[in-house]
Amino acid sequence: MTDRLVSHLRYAALAVPNFEEERQFFVRHWGLTEVHAEDGLSYLAAEGSAEPFILRLRADEKRVDLAGFGVRSRADIHALADKLHAEDVQFVHEPQELTGFGGGYGFRVFDGDGRVLEFSTGYEQRESRKIREREPIPAKLSHMVFNSSDLNRSAQWYVDHLEFTISDSLVRPDGGDMMHFMRCNPNHHSIAIATGPHHSLHHLSFEMRGIEEWMRGSGKILRSGARMIWGPGRHNAGDNTFAYFLSPAGNTIEYTTELAVVDEENWQANRHDISHLSTQDQWGTAAEMSELVARESFNDIDKGLFVAPPV
Ligand SMILES: [Fe+2]
Repeated sequence: MTDRLVSHLRYAALAVPNFEEERQFFVRHWGLTEVHAEDGLSYLAAEGSAEPFILRLRADEKRVDLAGFGVRSRADIHALADKLHAEDVQFVHEPQELTGFGGGYGFRVFDGDGRVLEFSTGYEQRESRKIREREPIPAKLSHMVFNSSDLNRSAQWYVDHLEFTISDSLVRPDGGDMMHFMRCNPNHHSIAIATGPHHSLHHLSFEMRGIEEWMRGSGKILRSGARMIWGPGRHNAGDNTFAYFLSPAGNTIEYTTELAVVDEENWQANRHDISHLSTQDQWGTAAEMSELVARESFNDIDKGLFVAPPV
């Protein structure tokens, strides 16, 4: 399927109690650009992306505020809203002019587990630029991953209602599902859902220009004092490189590069057994994925489920 109503992942919005510290970390170290700030809100852009922002931070109790997705036109916004209404999806608000930074036109819903999703079109585009050779800052937002205590139910919601497709899965040796990588365009995954003890943010991933920039970025974050919880390595599913760090608020954030672009007509989803070392770490440079490493990204229970953020 290549004519989905959802075109891409635009941004992630998170609330954090240590707002100033988190904001400073993302600007000074992670390499995002603050393009707008108002009381207790910070909008951060990636220099390589035309999205007006790719991360919104809000000062509050820790939670996921929302995931923002792009839609191509107002006609598609209405088609998607009509479809979701017909399927009894719970709305936060109907299609309307969006008054927040970047503007646009769109609506918000709760997904099957209560995560808040925004769909928008016609928002302002930012003047982006090419990331320079060896410049260790993100080019764009790559993907957003959620933990779910009911993996297959959560993933199926995105298939049924938003026409996402499972590109690949990670499975236990007994065949049980561990993680589904899901696409809404030829990028191998824009979201993924991992099995966890509760619903929460698993990680946010930022795409670097290439291997050199990804490696320089990883070194820069290590020198900032942040802890790398897993990496550097290269996954089999998605073929992307990975280096996972913990932000000051305890959210897992990833520098990645070279995520696979799939030929949607011919792509066959694989089920990768996680007990094969090469599944998670083709190069053999990352520590073995263990229960302890996995626990690092369980994160705190998301307090934002079925609670719309105030903005
Ligand atoms: Fe990732």
